[in-house]
Amino acid sequence: KNIAIIMGGYSSEYKISLISGNVVYQFLDKTKYKGYRIHIFKEKWVYVDDNNAEFPIDKNDFSTTVNGTKITFDCVFNAIHGTPGEDGLMQAYFELLNIPQSSCDYYQAALTFNKRDLLSVLKPYGIKTATSYYLNKGDKIDTSEIVKKVGLPCFVKPNKSGSSFGISKVKTEAELPIAIEVAYKEDNEIIIESFLDGTEVSVGVINYQGEIKVLPITEIVSENDFFDYEAKYEGKSQEITPARISDEMTQKVSQAAKRAYEVLKMKGFSRSEFIFVNGEPHMLEMNTIPGLTTESLIPQQAKAAGISLTDLFTNAIELAVK
Ligand code: DAL
Ligand code: MG
Repeated sequence: KNIAIIMGGYSSEYKISLISGNVVYQFLDKTKYKGYRIHIFKEKWVYVDDNNAEFPIDKNDFSTTVNGTKITFDCVFNAIHGTPGEDGLMQAYFELLNIPQSSCDYYQAALTFNKRDLLSVLKPYGIKTATSYYLNKGDKIDTSEIVKKVGLPCFVKPNKSGSSFGISKVKTEAELPIAIEVAYKEDNEIIIESFLDGTEVSVGVINYQGEIKVLPITEIVSENDFFDYEAKYEGKSQEITPARISDEMTQKVSQAAKRAYEVLKMKGFSRSEFIFVNGEPHMLEMNTIPGLTTESLIPQQAKAAGISLTDLFTNAIELAVK
């Protein structure tokens, strides 16, 4: 089977995505699949071969032509973090073309990529969250109103982005305008959340061989002020799998992550982040195209569950083409 591994994307996360995509390419089961690395950039969509020669993608049917031979794909393995791979755009395109894909469907992608909308949909199902305040570009910024609602310190985040791009931890009211400006560079919507002071964990939930499976939970101990870009990818954090939390906490957070997966009718991968406050998990977000770099959490969690990367990717493809 021909597998198109799509990577790159239009957001600040493109570099991480190229690493994730190359990990998928490297660990793909070569006895079953032929992988094709497809770069999706604003300027060009191209198939990149092992000699880094580029062949344009025909957007009409997502095919490419190499030496006069047309190549089509049996499945897309999506490794694009951020837009257009994690927010539903690529998903909708492949749904229209009827090409099976490893990720969830377009609606789930769009919903989960929007932190505000995701958390407000999950709240009625008993999933706890931080207190938050929203801003759209152009809105009047009333810092005292923000502080009154969410307190200090607080987190200023782009509402739709990943890998902690544009996120600031704000300790004084005076720092708010700059933090807001920084977040607007990534998105025209902002979510400002109260600081949750407690153990942070990351919970992978996947459909594994037809069953919804919670992977071993990772505890995140950041050397930096929070789990920022440097902590995520430059070693400035300790990631401990399985997390050093009580059985009761493990159970509560696993249930919350699994519940979220079920009520959203998710498919493929998900990795949700939580912080415990008074023993109760509070959800921060859900990633549907979680990082697959060697620094990333899903590969660590799969390993702890005894699932090799090759099996993990084969499973995702088999479920997609079924
Ligand atoms: N957004 C990054 C890639 C992650 O969730 O792992
Ligand atoms: Mg994220």
